[in-house]
Amino acid sequence: MNLKNINHETGQAHGSGIRAHRGKILAVSGLAVAAVVISCGTISRSLVAPPHIPGATYIGTESCAECHETVVRDFKHSTHARLKAPGDNSKDIGCESCHGAGSLHKESGGERGTILNPKKSAETCFACHQDKRASFNLPSHHPVLEGKVSCSDCHDPHKGDAIMGGGTQMMSENEICGKCHTAQFGPFVFEHDALKEGCTSCHQPHGSVNEKMLVTRNSSLCLKCHFTQVPAAGAASLNVSGSSHSFSRLSRGSCWSAGCHEEVHGSQVSRAFRY
Ligand code: HEC
Ligand code: HEC
Ligand code: HEC
Ligand code: HEC
Ligand code: HEC
Ligand code: HEC
Ligand code: HEC
Repeated sequence: MNLKNINHETGQAHGSGIRAHRGKILAVSGLAVAAVVISCGTISRSLVAPPHIPGATYIGTESCAECHETVVRDFKHSTHARLKAPGDNSKDIGCESCHGAGSLHKESGGERGTILNPKKSAETCFACHQDKRASFNLPSHHPVLEGKVSCSDCHDPHKGDAIMGGGTQMMSENEICGKCHTAQFGPFVFEHDALKEGCTSCHQPHGSVNEKMLVTRNSSLCLKCHFTQVPAAGAASLNVSGSSHSFSRLSRGSCWSAGCHEEVHGSQVSRAFRY
């Protein structure tokens, strides 16, 4: 068998698609592994069939430990460990909800092509996180669908909090972005303190309608933190170290494109983030 035979069944998470698929899985496995839900009562997410591997049955997370001990050990406290099939006789199919049923993989002693590795395709993730496909289709986006960046470059599926920088993770969010974007990460002689609040205070990490994946298109991005008050008509006050701006230049562009604060992430030469 090769990966081409593996059916992700994406886009069929709702309606008749899932019922048909559920029947298929039941027929194949004879187990009550109909769909994956989260065991935590406060969360309700649509039921989704795990990726389908022809001829394979579910063997449960503990069977993976035989050969992938460390992954299974770390996984216990991860976000996705809460994934569980419903029912009394259900198996805990945490690993298999992303990798597909593992019996053939186990029997073959881990032979290539017997199990899915989602690094190569985001389809596995989209099965449950359907809204993310749309985000990566927005005009400015990380090239995940193009295969140049993968979800697991930023999210650890096996360990701790799936949101990077959260919980027990060693790396902060900025460090993860900085792996690939060294120029924006610094260090700078003159740092912009906005970076302390994270790259995501200005950028959408998945995709955005605004260029450079910005959360806001124009100067209101900066005014979010720097605007204090409008004391009189035509004048405004910025809390950028007490300086006062007339905004007259803004007809030429935004705070960073009007020839003012071009080096918005930080600068080696100017306290005002200019060249
Ligand atoms: C949320 C989806 C998800 C779950 C659940 C999951 N994995 Fe993974 N797994 C991935 C992704 C994504 C990769 C690719 C990681 C990479 O290399 O970037 C991967 C890669 C792997 C690999 C290949 C080697 C490696 O580490 O890169 C092994 C082995 C593995 N997973 C085992 C497991 C086991 C065992 C479990 C359960 C304890 C599990 N996975 C649960 C998504 C998942
Ligand atoms: C009998 C031993 C054995 C068992 C049991 C086993 N694996 Fe593996 N697995 C391997 C070997 C060997 C490899 C290939 C190379 C490596 O990563 O060491 C592998 C590779 C993988 C890969 C990477 C495949 C690729 O194409 O990149 C994933 C994902 C994976 N296993 C997941 C699982 C999951 C999930 C389970 C439990 C359902 C599991 N394995 C159970 C031995 C096993
Ligand atoms: C079988 C369904 C399923 C699959 C497949 C799946 N997830 Fe999840 N994921 C969930 C559920 C359920 C949660 C926890 C509920 C929630 O917080 O919305 C979650 C949580 C997350 C979170 C954290 C959300 C938060 O707010 O804390 C991230 C990030 C994430 N998943 C990324 C991924 C990535 C990347 C993949 C593919 C490698 C993937 N997921 C595959 C169901 C899934
Ligand atoms: C370039 C890094 C990056 C990539 C690639 C990435 N993410 Fe994220 N993702 C993040 C960051 C950062 C957050 C936290 C957002 C925040 O705090 O505002 C996040 C949040 C999430 C969340 C929880 C909050 C939400 O928006 O629903 C989910 C689920 C998620 N990502 C899934 C995915 C999936 C699925 C993929 C691949 C298709 C993916 N991500 C690819 C960086 C990334
Ligand atoms: C695995 C490497 C990698 C990681 C990690 C990563 N990026 Fe990227 N990023 C890329 C690639 C590749 C591009 C596309 C570059 C291109 O098209 O020229 C990109 C593009 C961008 C762009 C410009 C988009 C545009 O429209 O020109 C921004 C902004 C960005 N990333 C921010 C972030 C932030 C914020 C994070 C952390 C949440 C992050 N990146 C993490 C690889 C990465
Ligand atoms: C204060 C808001 C802000 C913060 C915080 C921020 N950025 Fe940006 N970033 C911008 C703006 C504005 C642009 C557009 C600049 C331009 O077009 O010249 C941009 C552009 C980028 C680009 C595209 C560069 C190019 O030449 O195409 C990348 C990559 C990027 N940022 C990464 C990051 C990373 C990584 C972090 C966190 C370490 C981060 N940004 C934090 C505002 C911010
Ligand atoms: C997340 C909040 C935040 C955002 C968004 C933000 N900044 Fe800042 N900025 C700060 C903080 C905090 C400081 C340091 C304190 C201060 O000087 O006001 C700072 C300092 C500055 C300084 C240096 C002032 C000095 O003289 O030391 C400039 C210039 C600046 N920001 C420009 C911008 C521009 C341009 C944007 C929009 C692209 C922007 N900021 C967006 C929080 C932010």
